[in-house]
Amino acid sequence: MTQPIILAIESSCDETSASVIQAGKVLNNVIASQTVHQKYGGVVPELASRAHQQQIHHVVNEALAATGILTNQLNAIAFTRGPGLLGSLLVGVSFAKGMALGLQVPLIDVNHMEAHVLAHFIDDPKPAFPFLCLTVSGGHTQLVVVHDYLHMEVIGETRDDAIGEAFDKAAKMMDFPYPGGPLIDRFAQEGNAKAYSFPHTSIPGLDFSFSGIKTAFLYFLRDNKNTEPRFVELNKQNICASLQAHLVNMVMEKLKLAVDQTGINRVAIAGGVAANSGLRKSLQTQANQSGWDVFIPRFEYCTDNAAMIAIAAHYKFEAKRFASLNVAPLANLAIS
Ligand SMILES: Nc1ncnc2c1ncn2[C@@H]1O[C@H](COP(=O)(O)OP(=O)(O)OP(=O)(O)O)[C@@H](O)[C@H]1O
Ligand SMILES: [Mg+2]
Repeated sequence: MTQPIILAIESSCDETSASVIQAGKVLNNVIASQTVHQKYGGVVPELASRAHQQQIHHVVNEALAATGILTNQLNAIAFTRGPGLLGSLLVGVSFAKGMALGLQVPLIDVNHMEAHVLAHFIDDPKPAFPFLCLTVSGGHTQLVVVHDYLHMEVIGETRDDAIGEAFDKAAKMMDFPYPGGPLIDRFAQEGNAKAYSFPHTSIPGLDFSFSGIKTAFLYFLRDNKNTEPRFVELNKQNICASLQAHLVNMVMEKLKLAVDQTGINRVAIAGGVAANSGLRKSLQTQANQSGWDVFIPRFEYCTDNAAMIAIAAHYKFEAKRFASLNVAPLANLAIS
């Protein structure tokens, strides 16, 4: 088959998304974000899976309708197998299985973290292999050597929290609504990044750790609020700019080390935090200084979306890597 048409479903966390891809070209990418979690300051797993159940029919129908493609034209159904929230994954997996069975087409299981990396193959310019990818998201922080579409190697990852979690928890400490990462980014753009400094809490080597900076930030706020209860309100731009610069430096240090150690200077970023303006700027500056070739995804392909599942599925389809109908979701699925 030369022009496979694949429907892809993403439901690993709090975005219900469906995308249609034909011959490697994304035709549509519908994303329904769940707002139900906002009042809890974080994703509530049970509410997430219920919201996926409510939205998935609608999202899939909308994705197909806009392309004019009928279900009987689909050559495969792809879905996120993991990592993610088990209840959320189950909704996507079950829906995909039902469709594949009903239409008698193959199923394709996709690793969500590999898909974040492969989002770079949706648009041009596409990176040549091998390249390094810094994946920075809500649940992960990874340095990946990408040898091929289907062969990736994690050379560094967080030992505790993800950078996205550090952004979101810091935002929560300042009473910002969830998810706080984008809001920190917005305020940071109006602040002075040198206004405050934070302790160096990185660990040696290519692994990351963000638990130390979270605690340091908590104490920083507590101490300053003791002297000025309205500390955050009065200084939020400078606080956000300083914290963001610190977090960005933490990951840029590791990225430089990874380039030195691997000798690969084609560098990409992926995942929700790749939308961060400070990180995008810092990567570009470093690229200009060191002659790196950098790849920065479009905003809509940074946070969770089914287009990245679709492009990953496209390459699996080409390699005839299909899943069996008894495939189960895996909350901790690792990169292969
Ligand atoms: N501009 C931004 N600046 C900083 N963080 C951001 C920005 N935009 C989004 N984020 C963060 O990105 C994260 C969401 O990214 P993503 O959707 O890729 O994560 P996830 O799917 O929850 O986790 P994972 O992909 O590891 O399973 C959140 O932590 C959010 O705060
Ligand atoms: Mg994600």
